[in-house]
Amino acid sequence: MRTDHLIRTFVEYYEERGHRRITGSTLLPPPGDPVLFTTSGMHPLTPYLEGQPHPLGKRLVNVQRCLRTTDLDEVGDATHLTVFEMLGTWSLGDYGGPRSLDWGYGLLTEGLGIAPGLLHATVYAGDDRTGTGPDTDSLELWQGLGVPVERTVEDNWWPKSVDDDGGDGPVGPCGPDSEIFFWSGDGPPQSTPTGDDRWVEVWNHVTMTHRRHGDGSLVPLPQRNVDTGLGLERLAALLQGKQSVFACDVFDPWRRLVPPLWPLEEPELRLVSDHLRSAVVVLGDGVRPSNTGRGYVLRRLVRRVLTVLWRQDASRSLGDLPEDLVRHTLDHFHQDARPADVLRTLLDEEQRFARLLERGRRVLARPGFQGPLSEEDFHYLHDTHGLPRDLVTSLREE
Ligand code: ALA
Repeated sequence: MRTDHLIRTFVEYYEERGHRRITGSTLLPPPGDPVLFTTSGMHPLTPYLEGQPHPLGKRLVNVQRCLRTTDLDEVGDATHLTVFEMLGTWSLGDYGGPRSLDWGYGLLTEGLGIAPGLLHATVYAGDDRTGTGPDTDSLELWQGLGVPVERTVEDNWWPKSVDDDGGDGPVGPCGPDSEIFFWSGDGPPQSTPTGDDRWVEVWNHVTMTHRRHGDGSLVPLPQRNVDTGLGLERLAALLQGKQSVFACDVFDPWRRLVPPLWPLEEPELRLVSDHLRSAVVVLGDGVRPSNTGRGYVLRRLVRRVLTVLWRQDASRSLGDLPEDLVRHTLDHFHQDARPADVLRTLLDEEQRFARLLERGRRVLARPGFQGPLSEEDFHYLHDTHGLPRDLVTSLREE
């Protein structure tokens, strides 16, 4: 099943169950939102999850493009992408979590033909520290359907209360979740989702019960919502019998057009395809490269690609990318930027990076920079010569 078919099947299934489709999806969060990019399907819906009535009603369905920089270093493994699409459904104070899970199970098994024996669920076990009880309704739903269930604490609260850097989780709506995993191994399913990473998470159903405040406290929300997100490329890969998201049909044009241009090993091909595709989508949403915020994320993506390409051959240029590849990506995301303009910006950015590298090599060759660098040196190189720390570090490793 190709991804466009999968999207149609998903949306129609929920439309038949009274959901209205939200149209218009951008990586740029609404004004006033502190995050740089939309990181999940619920993001643009925050005011409605907190109680404001949505103009389309209480049952919604959407296909949301998302960008996650927290996963940047994981890109290249079988399941992580920088820009990906999330199929999402919402109940705004309407039906509860168990009904959402029941419909989700129906879509996966009857609608998409997944063998029930390949599924595993997880549910929230409760946490005395926050005074939040176990999610027994979801547990009973799964037991009734005969799907194996694992209970966890931290992994089944969304968003997590502690972020990846050890800081507090984000302020905003949150609650217990139940996640559906698909067995991707060759033999029969084994172990549980936390015990074997061949269990791939495909769909998260969050019952949003609370709002997390800046001091970490949890305050019950006036209405209970359900927020679900299903990773499109992950599910497509599994349905297409592929071991990685990079082998699903979304990447067909990249696999066809990039290797003749730049012969790359598989890990590099994945990184280059992911980052360039992401850069095209970010440009398509109107972001331009810069030294701060969104523009800096874009700049980092392009520089990471160039670092990989130039490691083997310094004559490689983004100007050689086929326009078709850019057009295919813009079309897929319904963006109306002109492919030639996108290529022009990528090329300008490449030239800027080439000039910076040249300057960096010249400055770092000076006698004062031969030994270990102090914090003061890093500041000087950054403030006076525009050389970011990570660039200085990689130039010194050359
Ligand atoms: N908002 C939930 C997630 O991103 C569905 O996993």
